[in-house]
Amino acid sequence: MSIVADAKNGLFTLHTKNTTYQMKADSLGTLLHVYYGERTDDSDKSYVICMKDRGFSGNPYEVGKKSKEYSLDTLPQEYSCYGTGDYRISALKVQNMDGSLAAALRFKEYQVIRGKYTIQGLPAVYSEKEKADTLEVILEDPASKVEVHLLYGVLEENDIITRAVKIVNRGSDRIVLQKAASLNLDFINGEYEWITFYGRHVMERNLQREELGHGIHAIGSVRGTSSHQYNPFAIVCEKNTDEEKGKCYGFSFLYSGEFQMEAEKDQIDQTRLICGIHPDNFAWNLQPGEAFDTPEVMMTYSGAGIGMISRNLHRTIRKHICRGEWRDKRRPVLINNWEATYFDFSGEQLAKMAKKAAGLGLELFVLDDGWFGKRDDDNSGLGDWFPNEKKLGCTLKELADQITECGMQFGLWFEPEAVSEDSDLYRTHPEWAVVIPGRRPDLSRNQLILDFSRADVQDYMIERMSAIFEETPITYVKWDFNRSICDKYSMALDAQSQGEFSHRYVLGLYRVLESLTAKFPHILFEGCSGGGGRFDAGMLYYTPQIWCSDNSDAIARLSIQYGTSFGYPVSAMGAHVSAVPNHQTGRTTPFATRSCVAMAGTFGYELDITKLSEEEGEKIRQQISRFKKHYDLIQYGEYYRLQAPSDRQCTVWEMADPEGKEALVSAVFHHVEGNTAPVIVRVQGLREKACYQMHLYMEDLPEEAGKSFLTHLPYGYKEGERITGAALRQCGLVIPGAMQEFQAWQIHIAEVE
Ligand code: DGJ
Repeated sequence: MSIVADAKNGLFTLHTKNTTYQMKADSLGTLLHVYYGERTDDSDKSYVICMKDRGFSGNPYEVGKKSKEYSLDTLPQEYSCYGTGDYRISALKVQNMDGSLAAALRFKEYQVIRGKYTIQGLPAVYSEKEKADTLEVILEDPASKVEVHLLYGVLEENDIITRAVKIVNRGSDRIVLQKAASLNLDFINGEYEWITFYGRHVMERNLQREELGHGIHAIGSVRGTSSHQYNPFAIVCEKNTDEEKGKCYGFSFLYSGEFQMEAEKDQIDQTRLICGIHPDNFAWNLQPGEAFDTPEVMMTYSGAGIGMISRNLHRTIRKHICRGEWRDKRRPVLINNWEATYFDFSGEQLAKMAKKAAGLGLELFVLDDGWFGKRDDDNSGLGDWFPNEKKLGCTLKELADQITECGMQFGLWFEPEAVSEDSDLYRTHPEWAVVIPGRRPDLSRNQLILDFSRADVQDYMIERMSAIFEETPITYVKWDFNRSICDKYSMALDAQSQGEFSHRYVLGLYRVLESLTAKFPHILFEGCSGGGGRFDAGMLYYTPQIWCSDNSDAIARLSIQYGTSFGYPVSAMGAHVSAVPNHQTGRTTPFATRSCVAMAGTFGYELDITKLSEEEGEKIRQQISRFKKHYDLIQYGEYYRLQAPSDRQCTVWEMADPEGKEALVSAVFHHVEGNTAPVIVRVQGLREKACYQMHLYMEDLPEEAGKSFLTHLPYGYKEGERITGAALRQCGLVIPGAMQEFQAWQIHIAEVE
């Protein structure tokens, strides 16, 4: 059992392979946070909590008469409350029937359960029963009888602890939850920084590292989705922590809606982290007897740098968040027509593209936006999920049959949560659109949102999409969402309940996804929101891959995929080779560079394949065969960031076989200079004593450059020469110099006897 409960002393210790977490219910009943970090023993470590009489930090009534040292304003806690003496950011803000904003939680009881808890209607980390444990600690506000059930899931092998909260109104009056966070974590001492990921459409997940100085630091989204602007993932680390050394913590929120992550360094230098649903658009009514479940946060600790945080999360997302047939099945190499045709296509043209693609080894043809309703641009048609047979020149089924007859699978784009004013659906059901009565809505891409908080809308969409899936041989769906949500209002909710809209919307989305993925397990769903606007661990529970960004430029993608890799695995990142000059940046990069970068994701193509030369076609064949040869290494390998896009010359990453038998090192010169210093990287994850041989892929190298390169190998070894894992780890691997702008190299390192 990974949970040790010492009931007599109110002490609860959670152990994973390399970490320990401890909390203690004190004599007053406050559940104190004691420790989270490197694995240690079960002994009581609460001696580190030092109490002192501090002015303006008051004392709970029960102890105030006896002592001025005990203050909720300074004590580290597992779940802090607003309004009763803790003046820091808090996890729970309850409005009582008398209008007061107050709660004060005291320990009531606990239970330890074999297996990992689940959360009704929400994504959650899952595991075989014997590989996870749950601790449930129940706290109570004695005045209102509100219960707070703190749930801790422990995945020992993965070094993962999850947190979620159930709030039950056991009182006799309605209460309103104004804030109900999923996680409160108090760091008792230490100087911290946090790494967060900000961005915008076509430039998602840029890394920002900031000192957590005094004051409140926050990221979040009030856009209805997790958003392009901030990702619901953060790392808290000690100063000087880098990829390979230092203490750090990763927090990933399994939620696709509005979120907030806040950190506050308090008056005595303690740091509190709070993560949960964003409170701005949240006011949840809880009638007597009702319960509210928060979404889940998964957290992990590493004493050996940030790289390990990423690898712990990658493993857990791949096997304990992603579900269904496609979790383990090889994903097809796809070709998508969006950047090839945009809205301007015919069925005949698509069939021609599919035929050529099939001949080059592509496995899945994805028909993107524009196949339904009246949809020749982005101003109309959303909501009318009926094939436009006039445009296609045939039925959708006939087109799909032509494509599958060439040996390819067929996939389709949807944007189920949106509706155009110019659509039959809107004309029939204007009340299904998210607008505030009496106000003109803010338009974005000239579209409105369908009110997914409504059960009738959810049911309609399940039925409509199911009908298409049943009529057409589809094995893939791209689930897109192309605007942020404002004018939040549901015609199906009364005035008092409008504060529930944003969260109910997400619950509705999850219900539709759950229903469709369960009904059509053979369909691979890829999430998308104008690229990576809803790239979160919650979505990955339903869609095991997500289109990473609408920016398909290989050099811009280096930063986007680098940032994404901190919290999410390669198998989750949709990445395609597209045409040059690139449609978003105008940049021209070599074909091999584009494929090298797309191979750090799910790998596919998005260009007009009918316009490519024989020679380019041959390159595609080679790229696909290389990707398939190294599929397991790329998709399931351990990921190491060896050099960042902020490096002067070259971004380098590595995927290593978990047993250390082989590795694939990829390097892209994002900036070429004259007479440069050599690039040497220390290869990780190999066996120190084993011998390895290198193989360099040289696809795009001009013949002559290739020869001179081979005769002047700038390595410390010759192609084919043996080199030990220890040498590669300690001395490093010399990355061959760039022979052209944006040069990419892929170097396969394989163990030899
Ligand atoms: C945004 C997506 O990210 C693109 O890939 C494409 O599907 C368009 N929407 C279609 O409207």
